[in-house]
Amino acid sequence: MNYLPLDSRYQSMRYNRSGRSGLKLPAVSLGLWHNFGGVDTFSNSRAMVLRAFDLGITHFDLANNYGPPPGSAEETFGQIMAKDLKPYRDELVISSKAGYWMWEGPYGEWGSRKYLVSSLDQSLKRMGLDYVDIFYHHRPDPDTPLEETMRALDHVVRSGKALYVGISNYPADKTREAAKILRELGTPCLIHQPVYSMFNRWVEDDLLTVLKEEGIGCIPFSPLAQGLLTDRYLGGIPEGSRASKAHGFLKPAQITDDKLDQVKKLNELAKSREQTLAQMALAWVLRHETMTSVLIGASKVEQIEDAVGTLKRLDFSSDELGQIEAILKE
Ligand SMILES: NC(=O)c1ccc[n+]([C@@H]2O[C@H](COP(=O)([O-])OP(=O)(O)OC[C@H]3O[C@@H](n4cnc5c(N)ncnc54)[C@H](OP(=O)(O)O)[C@@H]3O)[C@@H](O)[C@H]2O)c1
Repeated sequence: MNYLPLDSRYQSMRYNRSGRSGLKLPAVSLGLWHNFGGVDTFSNSRAMVLRAFDLGITHFDLANNYGPPPGSAEETFGQIMAKDLKPYRDELVISSKAGYWMWEGPYGEWGSRKYLVSSLDQSLKRMGLDYVDIFYHHRPDPDTPLEETMRALDHVVRSGKALYVGISNYPADKTREAAKILRELGTPCLIHQPVYSMFNRWVEDDLLTVLKEEGIGCIPFSPLAQGLLTDRYLGGIPEGSRASKAHGFLKPAQITDDKLDQVKKLNELAKSREQTLAQMALAWVLRHETMTSVLIGASKVEQIEDAVGTLKRLDFSSDELGQIEAILKE
């Protein structure tokens, strides 16, 4: 069936500027880490991407290694581009990354110019694209000089293979250094992609301050703690959930009774706000002004609809924030 996007797609989404750049991103973005690989059902992956676009989600986040097998999420996305979204390329912000293991030998991971440039070429081929909108260094490399990695990012922009660059999983001090090098090269760092949720708050110590001062946007990943901060696991581990899959990164051992006690209490609080827990968890992440977008994952169209529903209620009273702090301290 031919896809025609909804005319209403820009009516309810919010778009936030990424740091001090000219680029706006939707307040909710969709990541293709799980559920878009070669092991997954193409029709479901396609339905999720198209529903997201219909809801105003213009940003899709990928990486060289997403699958499984590695590379297959980019291939899936490439098929959806070719089949459905090609006419809308200029309405889309597509990102990819390199940093984790991708191929055999000394050039298949980390942060050398050799790896980053080759990997982006491979990603572009898999997705059938001439360029990505954002190219990230996926994780800091303790051995490669930061100058080399940042020069490689600058190079991919100058060669037309990426429009903007970002960094992911960099601690605050390395972020400051990377931002300085990139600024001097003339390719400012657009955005940082750190893990952040009610259950993982490391960015609150220093990173958010650095991002604000440097004018860099922030797109936190796993804002739902891979599904823990939803009602998904309240009645056990359901069939088909991330924790039920051998290749899922959420392991059953991470779903402890202590965590579930907190999730139950948070779920009650969300109900009192007339939201789902997923919506409250996303609104809570978006409460910082530095946050450009929340980067969610999904296995079903309904989860994406639920996430976009977050925008109906983003505010928190100080009493509600206090209750959340108290639950998280338990
Ligand atoms: N830069 C990095 O190093 C890095 C690392 C990890 C992720 N990421 C990026 O961040 C994206 C998001 O990560 P994530 O998938 O871990 O994010 P997440 O939003 O924390 O978790 C997504 C999972 O939560 C469940 N879920 C989502 N919405 C729900 C809802 N409304 N109700 C109930 N359950 C719901 C689904 O689990 P089920 O599958 O069980 O239904 C879904 O697969 C990735 O796709 C990737 O693009 C980046």
